[in-house]
Amino acid sequence: MSAPNLINLYAYCRDRVLDPVTRAPITEARLAEVLPESLAAMELAEQTHVAIPEELHSVFAEFRPTPIIDAKRFADAIGGGCQILVKDEGSSPSGNHKMNSAMWIAYHAARDGVRTLITETTGNWGHALAIAGARFGVRVVCFIDEKSVSARPDRVALMTEAGAEVIVVGAEGEDYDPLVLSADRAVSYARSREDSRYIFGSVYNYFILPQTIAGVEVRQVLEQTPPDIVVGSCGGGANLLGISAAYLVDRVAGDGGPEVVCAESSLCPIVSKGIPGEYSIDNQQFYPLLKTYGLDRLLGDTYIGGLGSTIVAAPVAAFHEEGLIRTRSFTDQEALDAAELFQKTEGRRVALETGYQLAGVIAEARRRPGARILVNISSVRANSFA
Ligand SMILES: Cc1ncc(COP(=O)(O)O)c(C=O)c1O
Repeated sequence: MSAPNLINLYAYCRDRVLDPVTRAPITEARLAEVLPESLAAMELAEQTHVAIPEELHSVFAEFRPTPIIDAKRFADAIGGGCQILVKDEGSSPSGNHKMNSAMWIAYHAARDGVRTLITETTGNWGHALAIAGARFGVRVVCFIDEKSVSARPDRVALMTEAGAEVIVVGAEGEDYDPLVLSADRAVSYARSREDSRYIFGSVYNYFILPQTIAGVEVRQVLEQTPPDIVVGSCGGGANLLGISAAYLVDRVAGDGGPEVVCAESSLCPIVSKGIPGEYSIDNQQFYPLLKTYGLDRLLGDTYIGGLGSTIVAAPVAAFHEEGLIRTRSFTDQEALDAAELFQKTEGRRVALETGYQLAGVIAEARRRPGARILVNISSVRANSFA
């Protein structure tokens, strides 16, 4: 398969990236103060497709295209005669979809002369960036909160072994939002260092754009037999937008295509209950504001990993406002049950966040018997569901 062009979903919802001080649409020059230069340019790109640089073709070819599996035993266990197609992002080096964005970001940062990338993580993203940083000779510093460390005991070691420096952020009282806390600390750390750049593990276009490679592959492979429904779990939106990118663009053009369903955590109903506004991932008027959906806080303290993002990518909000994305919320128990059923039937242990989209598949299969449903999966090591 030839290297596909990526789909620039932010080009479908312009003027949603704002200057955090003036609140006017941000300039490329201002963005370049906080992002690697080439990523700053891309953030505001108006073209709907972006080519993958030649040097990245062979890097992606090492783990892409990811396979699409017909999950027959899972479908049989659900009943209703559905076909469930599973795109296996667990086959990437980090075991999840985050690898695409990590390679993209580390490659461009290295080319722009950035020496250190600093990020926040609940474990999956930091691991992917650590692998990519080592690949392109960029130092990586990951901030991770204490709750994530105890829920995902393997993650600090995985990031460290891959070559990253890991800083554990202590809890601040009982009621804290892990991602916001780590992001704010990481931003402060990055601001005090000249040749460093802070990168958020979802939401912004530098992260969403490379993720669309999954959706482009899906469309190529399933050209003759497109799904009726695509389900993606949604924290910051990269996973959902990535897998559904090509179909969303069809729907914008009025060409029909599969229904796109967002599976969110009931403790972070970022799409169904998110409030339209201007949000950033820090409280320092440093990182760009996005005109999108946000939530003040999580609605409980059960661990939900990367689904606990209280800000979502602007295209998710834009497409949802246009009625192109439907939402469903699931409890952690529903996610656990779906993951367990998948493991029993397909023999694969999936990431916590994947459990939510598998719960979405089950709900959609019951709503539309006989439908062809597409979903992706991420893996975890055998000893940890989270
Ligand atoms: C495996 C996995 N799936 C899904 C998500 C959801 O995040 P996003 O919507 O930003 O892709 C995450 C985030 O950490 C994740 O690690």
